[in-house]
Amino acid sequence: MSVFEEQPPLINLSELSKWLKNNYSYLNFKNIKLTSLNSERDKNFLLQGVKNTKYVIKISNPKESLDQLKYQDILINYLRSNKKLKSIYPKICHKKILFLKDRKNRNCAVRILTYIEGNMYAKSKINTKIEESFGKILALQSNHLQSFIHKDSIRKFDWDPSNIKWTKNFLELFKGFERKLIKDSINQYEHFVLKNIKNLKFSVTHGDPNNYNIVVSNDKIIGLIDFGDSIYAPSINDLSIALSYALMSSNNFYKSLKNIVGSYNNINPLTKDEIYSLLGLIKSRLTITLVMAAKQRKKYPDNKYLSISEKNAWSLMSKLHQIDPYFFIAVIKEICNLDPIDNFNEIFQLIINHQYENIFNFELNDINKKILNFDKKSFFLKSNPSNNRLNILVKKFLKDDVGIGLYNEKRKIYKSNHYISTLNTSEKRDIHLGIDIFIKEGTQIRAPLDGKVSILHNNNFKYDYGPTLILEHKIKNFKFYTLYGHLSKKCLKKLKIGQTIKKGDWIGEIGGYKVNGNWPPHLHFQILLSLLNEVNNFPGVGEEYLIDVWKQISPDPNIILKIPQSFLYNKETKEKVLSKRIKNIGKNLSISYKEPLHILEAKDQYFYDEEGRKYLDCVNNISHVGHSNLDVHKALVEQNLKLNTNTRYLYNIINEYSDRLLRTFPKKLNKIFFVCTGSEANDLALRIAKTYTKGNNVLVMDNAYHGHTNTLIDLSPYKFKNKGGEGKKKNVHVLRMPDEIRGKWTSKKKNWLTSYINEAKELINKNFTKDNLLSSFFFESILGCGGQVVLPKNYLKNIIKLVRQKNALCIADEVQTGFGRVGNNFWAFEEHGIIPDIVTLGKPMGNGHPIAAVVTTEKIANSFNNGMEYFNSFGGNPVSCAVGNAVLDEIDNKNLQLNAKEVGNYLINKLNKLKLKFPHSISNISGRGLFIGIDLIKNSNTLLPNPNLASQLINNLRYKGILLSTDGPFNNVIKIKPPMVFNKKNADILCSEINNFLIHKNKK
Ligand SMILES: Cc1ncc(COP(=O)(O)O)c(C=O)c1O
Repeated sequence: MSVFEEQPPLINLSELSKWLKNNYSYLNFKNIKLTSLNSERDKNFLLQGVKNTKYVIKISNPKESLDQLKYQDILINYLRSNKKLKSIYPKICHKKILFLKDRKNRNCAVRILTYIEGNMYAKSKINTKIEESFGKILALQSNHLQSFIHKDSIRKFDWDPSNIKWTKNFLELFKGFERKLIKDSINQYEHFVLKNIKNLKFSVTHGDPNNYNIVVSNDKIIGLIDFGDSIYAPSINDLSIALSYALMSSNNFYKSLKNIVGSYNNINPLTKDEIYSLLGLIKSRLTITLVMAAKQRKKYPDNKYLSISEKNAWSLMSKLHQIDPYFFIAVIKEICNLDPIDNFNEIFQLIINHQYENIFNFELNDINKKILNFDKKSFFLKSNPSNNRLNILVKKFLKDDVGIGLYNEKRKIYKSNHYISTLNTSEKRDIHLGIDIFIKEGTQIRAPLDGKVSILHNNNFKYDYGPTLILEHKIKNFKFYTLYGHLSKKCLKKLKIGQTIKKGDWIGEIGGYKVNGNWPPHLHFQILLSLLNEVNNFPGVGEEYLIDVWKQISPDPNIILKIPQSFLYNKETKEKVLSKRIKNIGKNLSISYKEPLHILEAKDQYFYDEEGRKYLDCVNNISHVGHSNLDVHKALVEQNLKLNTNTRYLYNIINEYSDRLLRTFPKKLNKIFFVCTGSEANDLALRIAKTYTKGNNVLVMDNAYHGHTNTLIDLSPYKFKNKGGEGKKKNVHVLRMPDEIRGKWTSKKKNWLTSYINEAKELINKNFTKDNLLSSFFFESILGCGGQVVLPKNYLKNIIKLVRQKNALCIADEVQTGFGRVGNNFWAFEEHGIIPDIVTLGKPMGNGHPIAAVVTTEKIANSFNNGMEYFNSFGGNPVSCAVGNAVLDEIDNKNLQLNAKEVGNYLINKLNKLKLKFPHSISNISGRGLFIGIDLIKNSNTLLPNPNLASQLINNLRYKGILLSTDGPFNNVIKIKPPMVFNKKNADILCSEINNFLIHKNKK
């Protein structure tokens, strides 16, 4: 018979008093007052001695072994040897364990300990401080016990939650749901504890830190008593036993767990295996309590008290049953400052960097989208609409657009008890864990990556997902899942659990209102890094207070969908942005397109607007190596954090960059002046030329644009000839554009070019004399504003010869055409076999960062050094140089000049085919590399430029997601100068849309 079956000692109080006085004279007992204390198998008394000193007289069960009692004394003394813990444990007051005979004449061992005055945990009003102190004491105790061992601690013990196999034999004591709870608990014990037990740390444990063995005072734990259950067991046993009682008196499990486990972990960090087994052990301890109670009840069917004591255990057991064990593990990990999902960052990065297929038969970013908010400000949820009404409202709002429901949105739509949080019943699960895509019923859905059907189930409760599919994926060795909710029933028939799915395979279609849980048709798309313990379904919303856990279980699905983030969280409408701009900004800053674009972000060759729509940017030679280039950005930030100053100090990056830049030029051009814009570069070039030549006259090409300063407007026929222009100044001389199509002389005539050269010769010889010196000739090798006109072979050679005869300088404006854009050459002038005296650079040089330069010869640079300092606050600063360097790196590393050549030729070829197909509308394709023009005409007449068609084309293609602009003296030339990462696929799309447009136009 064990101590649990033997009747506790039966004590006569007056005999005990006498016995105590006789045997413990050294304790000086006089007026002994004995009060009985609660005990299960022993008999304990509180003894109030002299001067109010209080003792506990512990009279052990007659079946208790003396060795066990001696072991307990040794253990208490060991624990009290720790300074931090000493006061927590009672002091042993007996010198030796004596035996007292009880009323049944049984020998009962007697021990005397000091009494720790306070309230029992079970009877205290528990708060955060108490719980934190509890966790701390348990951790300190467990740490201290790691270096204690005793043979009598090693024993099999029925109350040990790490060893409850025996309870299986008593399942028949339970019926119905109670049996299910016990059975589930035993199953979980086998899975989470037994299978894992070898990985757990073992030590001597207290064995019973239940809420009647914990003494509380002044908001902290001041006592931990009763070592009768101490055994050698998994160290984590004590924390689990403590929790199996502490949670009974908690109405907020998460808070109690955070307080107790968190403070325990701060001192004694839990291992992953301990965390894994914690809930199993808590439930195992409850199972023991319930099985023990059921056994007692069977033995004493009339004892109602026994059933009452079980009530709390059943209640806790059924509450814990609601909690997904894997979710519990994730929560405890978060409490212990670990990632709720193991290797989260690694998996997250792998998912981000994987290549995905579109989830529909089209790219989500190619269409207009609208955000559908369901938060408390949601206009759809005003006046609490029924789901049917919601359906109508959503349809009306979206028209033909696609609606996007946001990840991580706190929603007001989840009403039923189903959404009550299991870890704190006063909270709800209302944070959306997926992205919703509201789209027409019947829209086909495809797998964004390879996978396997893991769950396929019709969750057909009102407001649930309806038909739901979960795919399992593997990238490297990591498994994760994607969920597709609110489908039609088709997938239930066509797919099978375990079926292999290839990227792009059909996996379902959007379900109608009736089958998808009564929601407006949409796809709920969610990523799951763990399936938790789910077999049919998965939470689509989580608790706000547990969001850090949920964000790892279900990270933002946009890492697969890749909808621009700034669209998802944009708060400004186009109308507002436009009206503010009109209010604040000068009106002659033009805005492209009849319907302006509100661009939120850009990447590589793409723009993204406020409708979440992607645009192929075909007309941005400033973002030379691609929009928002990460390496250029990094270079800028790193240098900006280190040093940014003006050129009056020495810093090496200017040398590094200059060396590198000069290597791209003919040797003769070996001096750089840094400035910030193309205009500044041309302005400075003119100043240098004037200083060098003492001349005041300037020669320019017709329709040229060289910049926006006073002087440069005068050098830009594109400006001074046109609206608002003041006409040509006397010192400015304009050379006719050698336009082979509709110039004064066209290529139809032999020697047509000579006519232009002769005309130029006449102009030069007539105008520039010793008294009226020419300073310079400004030219672009491909006339951009002139309509992407490539200067004919030998033209520049001849003109430059004439100019040099007048001792003037030749200035090549490479602001548009430089840095490899023309494909065959790094600089456009190289094609003409000339070496200019000065080259000006700008636009692409800093990929959007304002850096520009003037490059010239040593001789010219020296002549400019005439005593007047050249100072520029920003030109050539270290940040600009770092950016310039990074741009050159990108051009080299990505072979962008070669790309410009190959893609450019490919595109020019395709455009020439379109020219043949539409001779009615296209007269010429001009340009080099990725600097191209399409000349549009009326009625096949090359002499009739068609600016209307050009305007219609760019405005039409804008709606197809392609951005272009027009230029040329008649505004009839479509300008193509995309970021240099432009590829052949982009060229195909561009040509196909131009083709569609022209087909449509020609039909009319
Ligand atoms: C050929 C040419 N030169 C100079 C400039 C002036 O450059 P920025 O606008 O940087 O002053 C431009 C600008 O478009 C240009 O096209």
